[in-house]
Amino acid sequence: MKGAYLYKAPRGTTDILPAEQGYFRYIEERAADICQCYGYKRIDTPLFEDSRLFVRTIGPGTDIVEKETYSFEDRSGQGMTLRPEGTAPICRAYLEHGMHNLPQPVKLYYFAAIFRYERPQKGRYRQHQQFGFEALGEGDPALDAEVIEMAWRFFKSLGLRKISMKVNSIGCRLCRPPYLEKLTEYYSEHIDQMCPECKARFRKNTLRLLDCKKPLCQDTAAGAPKSVQHLCPECKEHFKSVSSYLRLLRVPYKKDHRLVRGLDYYTRTVFEVQPKDEGGAQSALGGGGRYDDLIGELGGKPTPAIGFATGIERIVLNLKEQGIKPPVSDAQGIYVAYLGHEGKAEAVKLTAELRRAGMLVHWSFGNKSLKSQMRQANALGAEFAFIFGEDEVRNGTVMYRDLVEGDQWEVPIDEVVNLLTQV
Ligand code: HAM
Repeated sequence: MKGAYLYKAPRGTTDILPAEQGYFRYIEERAADICQCYGYKRIDTPLFEDSRLFVRTIGPGTDIVEKETYSFEDRSGQGMTLRPEGTAPICRAYLEHGMHNLPQPVKLYYFAAIFRYERPQKGRYRQHQQFGFEALGEGDPALDAEVIEMAWRFFKSLGLRKISMKVNSIGCRLCRPPYLEKLTEYYSEHIDQMCPECKARFRKNTLRLLDCKKPLCQDTAAGAPKSVQHLCPECKEHFKSVSSYLRLLRVPYKKDHRLVRGLDYYTRTVFEVQPKDEGGAQSALGGGGRYDDLIGELGGKPTPAIGFATGIERIVLNLKEQGIKPPVSDAQGIYVAYLGHEGKAEAVKLTAELRRAGMLVHWSFGNKSLKSQMRQANALGAEFAFIFGEDEVRNGTVMYRDLVEGDQWEVPIDEVVNLLTQV
């Protein structure tokens, strides 16, 4: 029966098929190059962590913790959660491995599968892949600017155009509470006209009301008190310095007083990279910010830190929309074809020998006709073929056929590898 397969990939997840892998490889290579330039080292953390780590850091009132985590009890009854973001595990690892004793800042980057039980739509999945980097142990605003510049350069190195960098400061634990009071006061006069989601968020996560993408809520947010106008003198000075370093680094950024983030751990600088012509709720290509209290929250001594992450699937979507294709490697390989039993034995030996010499070699199983083998060679895009027919086996030779030009000639079998390595 057509289409009656038993299983599909779970809703909100995708298979990354071979044809898509080029995009992922391209992005990961650019990412690793940029990390190398800025002195970041790779780290990998487990796919799951103690659930409390995420509740404590992301915040109990956030969408992620309230309704999006994949949490379960393991067989010993311990609460575990599939990683819904990469920053908290890095901070946990920083403390656990005594990285606070290393020269600061400690600069780390990661590629990580991230799990969030969201309503799936374009660019929003239940499992996605993030590239992120974190600089821990330094509070200098020059570092904020460097991290923002690095994120910017990364997107630019992929060839992306039509993107914008938004920056804001949401203050610290001293100046945010009085600001939140002002914001709550403002919204209590407008909440009746706002969307049901905002109504539900009001009081629980007032800052996020600024972020709602519904037109009416956006109008209300436009008139809301701005965090930058309620910063304490230290946060104000910090933000001023970040702005002037960004100008020195020539990052074209815009201040956006409505930019807040969906995780509670941020302090001071927050930023997001957004596609210019897309206004949808899921438009952010990447985002990050400072989280100066997070390591202290996890039991470490107060340690300022800042980082950034981006969803690789969203980058792929944007690359495709902008018509940017990853460079394809031109190595399409060699095809080894054969006729008969003895021809096959020779083909097995030559294929192995060429592969040992580091070459990409295809051959076919199942004793197919020569015509069908040549069809496969063309389909694979092989540049040339070696063919073992009865005569060649008898003569200790092999037929070399240029699949682009169509020329062919016989080569003694023990000269093949030499011939190819000399080319
Ligand atoms: P985030 O903004 O929640 O930040 O996620 C970072 C990026 O991951 C987003 O900008 C987006 O590109 C991608 N992303 C998020 N959710 C999804 C989804 N459901 N499907 C596809 N892509 C998605 C963080 O996670 C912070 N840990 C970033 C950070 C690092 N802050 C400081 N350091």
